[in-house]
Amino acid sequence: MLEVTGLKKSFHGREILSGVDLTVEKGDVLAVLGPSGGGKTTLLRCLNYLERADAGQMTFIGRTMDMPRLSRKEIAAYRRHTAFVFQSFNLFSNKTALQNVTEGLIVPRKIPRAQAEERAMAALEKVGLADRRDAYPSQLSGGQQQRVAIARAVAVRPDVIFLDEPTSALDPELIGGVLEVIRGLAEDGMTMVIVTHEVNFARHVSTRVLFMDQGQVLTAAPTAEFFEEQKLERVQSFLRSLDRKDD
Ligand SMILES: Nc1ncnc2c1ncn2[C@@H]1O[C@H](COP(=O)(O)OP(=O)(O)O)[C@@H](O)[C@H]1O
Ligand SMILES: [Mg+2]
Repeated sequence: MLEVTGLKKSFHGREILSGVDLTVEKGDVLAVLGPSGGGKTTLLRCLNYLERADAGQMTFIGRTMDMPRLSRKEIAAYRRHTAFVFQSFNLFSNKTALQNVTEGLIVPRKIPRAQAEERAMAALEKVGLADRRDAYPSQLSGGQQQRVAIARAVAVRPDVIFLDEPTSALDPELIGGVLEVIRGLAEDGMTMVIVTHEVNFARHVSTRVLFMDQGQVLTAAPTAEFFEEQKLERVQSFLRSLDRKDD
């Protein structure tokens, strides 16, 4: 469904992504793992054109695009098929949970308000927050705010959701609830690309794992193969270092 080849990105002359290839099939949950500073966020942002790639080809639902050359109109058309969940939630602080979710429906997608609210309520229901529809972000916990952000992503009925470390800004006791919501989406067959340090979550929920280090994909494999037949010492030592943090 989404295939990228040769994705490159530099900042101030320093190459951050050095020719990344990846494939996501419909229904895949692709977990992106790797050390901090390896380019995971930059990759995800390039995939949603929040950053402009310097080179790379993207094929999305059968259409091939030259990533550096896409026009604003083409980017807007592509983004109607995607959603992005940020590490820091990025909710509007002056809007309620419901308004945060309907915001992407009413103006950008021209959905009538009543219908947008119905869809938004279904999405809030899905993340377990229907009863907090009128709460402002400041009245919600971090975990609840992130669940609203996930409801906002779901409500646009995207073909793929990109999630950048959706639980890393949360207190430990709030992480589980958010991961549970994401696991539910995976069970519904939602296609997702998720950058995460939650290795157990990746092991049990993802269908494929991609490991990035220093702007390159070291390996990409089906999840069971990635964890059980991992031959790369660099990946093994990374996984061991996370295990130690869990202790
Ligand atoms: N907007 C930017 N301008 C300059 N450098 C950036 C920018 N965004 C990221 N970088 C640099 O790119 C490298 C990779 O960052 P990032 O994609 O955030 O990695 P990760 O998400 O794997 O931790 C880092 O060295 C970071 O400082
Ligand atoms: Mg990052």
